[in-house]
Amino acid sequence: MSNTPISVVVLISGRGSNLQALVSSQQAGELNVRFAAVVSNRSDAAGLTFADLNNIPTTVVDHTEFSDRLNYDHALIDEIERYQPDLIILAGFMRILSTEFVRHYHGRLINIHPSLLPHFKGMHTHQQALDAGATEHGASVHYVTDELDGGPVFLQTSLPVMENDDAESLASRVLEQEHTLYPAAVQLIADGRIQLVDDKLLFDQTPLNEPIQLDTIT
Ligand code: GRF
Repeated sequence: MSNTPISVVVLISGRGSNLQALVSSQQAGELNVRFAAVVSNRSDAAGLTFADLNNIPTTVVDHTEFSDRLNYDHALIDEIERYQPDLIILAGFMRILSTEFVRHYHGRLINIHPSLLPHFKGMHTHQQALDAGATEHGASVHYVTDELDGGPVFLQTSLPVMENDDAESLASRVLEQEHTLYPAAVQLIADGRIQLVDDKLLFDQTPLNEPIQLDTIT
């Protein structure tokens, strides 16, 4: 682990279990980041309470106070810029981001999505997987681009879909995996092992053509 932690801002909208996993990993000395701030678009996001309890600065940029997406995203950028983060981590931030926002943070903005992308983009991914008869499901971490859930994926983890799975059981097993996956993904960036250069992923300075599988990381 290199010595200087990268500075991160985490964007949330709700329960914040991925935020908790990231903070726990950092507190355990396994994730070399400094949490500059947690920003939410909703004042009732449970993750804000968790961040407060862990002495991480929090802010709410309430989307209902803005007339349109672009105005909101400008305010969000202004707020994030106060912290000059190296990385912006979307952790259950339930808003579509404008092209302007996404381009502003190109190469510094990541998201976790509960499916094996490019399969099952958007909402209700677990039901989508069941409806499609998928035998494997999982979660992905990707850089964010203009295309919803379409940016370059660099890390994934998968699990088998069981015969008696419903959307709820699948969601709960995938979420548990997300809590290992996201800290590992952020650590790859903190270590400088993963980079997005222009639109291409580099892993240990070599082009990465397929997502890394979590269980293969050494
Ligand atoms: C997670 O399933 C994540 O993959 C998706 O939104 C959910 C957020 O959950 N993007 P939490 O707020 O981190 O508990």
